[in-house]
Amino acid sequence: MTSGKFITLEGGEGVGKSTNVEFILNQLRERGLEVVATREPGGTPFGESVRSLFLHQDNIRPEAELLLLFAARVHHLREVVEPALKRGAWVVCDRFTDASYAYQGAGRGIERSVVDFLRDWIQAGLSPDLTLLLDAPVDTGLGRAQRRSGPDRLEREDAAFFARVREGYLALARAEPRRIRVIDAAQPLPSVQAAIAAQLDTLFSDHA
Ligand code: TMP
Repeated sequence: MTSGKFITLEGGEGVGKSTNVEFILNQLRERGLEVVATREPGGTPFGESVRSLFLHQDNIRPEAELLLLFAARVHHLREVVEPALKRGAWVVCDRFTDASYAYQGAGRGIERSVVDFLRDWIQAGLSPDLTLLLDAPVDTGLGRAQRRSGPDRLEREDAAFFARVREGYLALARAEPRRIRVIDAAQPLPSVQAAIAAQLDTLFSDHA
């Protein structure tokens, strides 16, 4: 059905996603692939409006958070991700549905079956080919994120919330070890990037 590959990047706050997204994009471009860089929530005009509401509006109920994320996700999938994959582009997405399981599921306590239902409905079988989970101890990442100017609504959550998020992500990786590769993001950057490059290589050899 699709000919491109769908790569997602996940992790808690301050684990170095932005730097490593750039690294992945360069690796793919060096191979002459058409690359689409995108993010969630966001990636479309509607999704970017949802993103600013999501990150900056106070007092959003957990159920509303989850619905907002999937509302943005359906636009993103239909308008950006699916068309790109169909024409053979490689899509690199900064966060996707695993974040809904980790943040809204494990972090906020929404039942897994609710997220499963929305995922099955909206994604209709589409799943990332590879998910890189940048994992670091909560205090390392949170310290970095909270030192940035003006932390957003999620970054203001406490360490207990992020401990649940981290455990939620690691549980997802244990359940789907082929798709979700855990990268130790507490290592020095060159080691992190060598680990990422090794994972990308497995995808290139599948694709060849
Ligand atoms: P970031 O992409 O800059 O890290 O910010 C996005 C924030 O949105 C981050 O705190 C995680 C959160 N988020 C969720 O809670 N659930 C989701 O499904 C997604 C995609 C993001």
